[in-house]
Amino acid sequence: MNNTKRDSFTTGIGVIAATLGSAIGLGNIWKFPSLVGSNGGAVFILVYLVSTLLVGLPVMVSEIMLGRKAKADAIGTLKKLAPNKPWWLVGAAGVLSAFLIMAFYTEVAGWVFAYVIKSVSGSLLSTDPQVTTAAFSQLIADPMQSLIWQWIVLLLIGFIIILGVSKGIEATTKRLMPILFGILLVVCVRSLTLPGAGEGLAFLFNPDFSKLSASVILVALGLSFFKLSVGMGTMITYGSYFRDDQDVPFTAGRVMLGDLLVSILAGIAIFPAAFAFGFEPSAGPSLLFITIPAIFASMPFGQVFMVLFFILASIAATGAMLSLLEVPVAYLNEQIGLKRWQATVVTLILLALIGSTAALSSSVLANIKPFGMTFFDLYDFATSNILLPLGGLFICIFVGWVFGFNKVEELLSNSGTLKNGPVIKAFFFVVKFIAPILIVLILLNGLKII
Ligand code: TRP
Repeated sequence: MNNTKRDSFTTGIGVIAATLGSAIGLGNIWKFPSLVGSNGGAVFILVYLVSTLLVGLPVMVSEIMLGRKAKADAIGTLKKLAPNKPWWLVGAAGVLSAFLIMAFYTEVAGWVFAYVIKSVSGSLLSTDPQVTTAAFSQLIADPMQSLIWQWIVLLLIGFIIILGVSKGIEATTKRLMPILFGILLVVCVRSLTLPGAGEGLAFLFNPDFSKLSASVILVALGLSFFKLSVGMGTMITYGSYFRDDQDVPFTAGRVMLGDLLVSILAGIAIFPAAFAFGFEPSAGPSLLFITIPAIFASMPFGQVFMVLFFILASIAATGAMLSLLEVPVAYLNEQIGLKRWQATVVTLILLALIGSTAALSSSVLANIKPFGMTFFDLYDFATSNILLPLGGLFICIFVGWVFGFNKVEELLSNSGTLKNGPVIKAFFFVVKFIAPILIVLILLNGLKII
């Protein structure tokens, strides 16, 4: 433990900016649209909404509440709140998940950064998907380029993290979030005003229930965890930087709505334009790097919008990665006693090592497939569809069954200062019964165990 005062977020706006910055990320710009595209459009959004309300949001409130109470990193929080019990293992699993997510996340972020440069130079400006496919393949099949872009990303976020919680994370996200919303609105207006945009809107908002299946539901549940950065200790760690007078359920609710808005707007930026120019909506993960450049190249002044779009994605990815990196850094700093810069350097080195297996999974390591997946896909699948839901399940059990209602009421009402009794009761019921049952059923069913 350090004797110096613990760094934290300093203003209400700063708390929202940092937490929203964590939630908004490649999950909104890369995962959400491509999953909507490949899982039947509106029906997927509907299932995702239900999972977010009944599972993701309650877990988010729980994590922030626990972190704020203990004022410690993910592992330290559970050690403090449940001394001499194995609950800290949930935090330890979280630190592990942070590494696995960062391994593939920094690689996608690297491609996004590379695409900012490529779109400025005009080398992506082709309406022919074969040309944009070739440009993307060339990037990911080149081991050196893949590694270097990942290292650039790691150095950038490492630099911000070393600056600290208030001067690094809070200050950065406070500047970036308004820019992100501004750019997103501009791109949406462009997409919506294209002739033929209506078909894309119908795809986004008219559900076709025949597309529903167990695996679609599992994917939606996994996405709701991934989107809100919950199930692995990010929100515990960020919660530990919250101020004591902050209204936790209200703040979490606002972050959830802001994040949802950005996902929907990203869909509106992409699908109407895709349909207007006759592109396949069910493009999967390559949507961002192959279809989107071709879509932008099809429209007047497309290059400007393409540059804006990839800047937007880079900003989103940065805020999210800060929150991922902060989890192991806070742990190494507070539990192991490393200085903040030392903790950051150690984490970056480990990440460069693990991350290289994801970065090289489209080139040198393409044929190594544990469990039938490349390292990249394996990290993505194992975290979203297994580790995050399991982490969330244990958090719910901890709060609902170990912690109990009285403590929850005390913490969420800020010792009675907030008059939010009904919200707390509803929250507690969902966390104790609904969310855990849903997670277990969906996990077992989606993984084909029942
Ligand atoms: N929520 C971020 C996104 O949508 C990703 C992210 C940041 C995350 N921190 C996390 C996902 C913690 C899971 C857990 O891109």
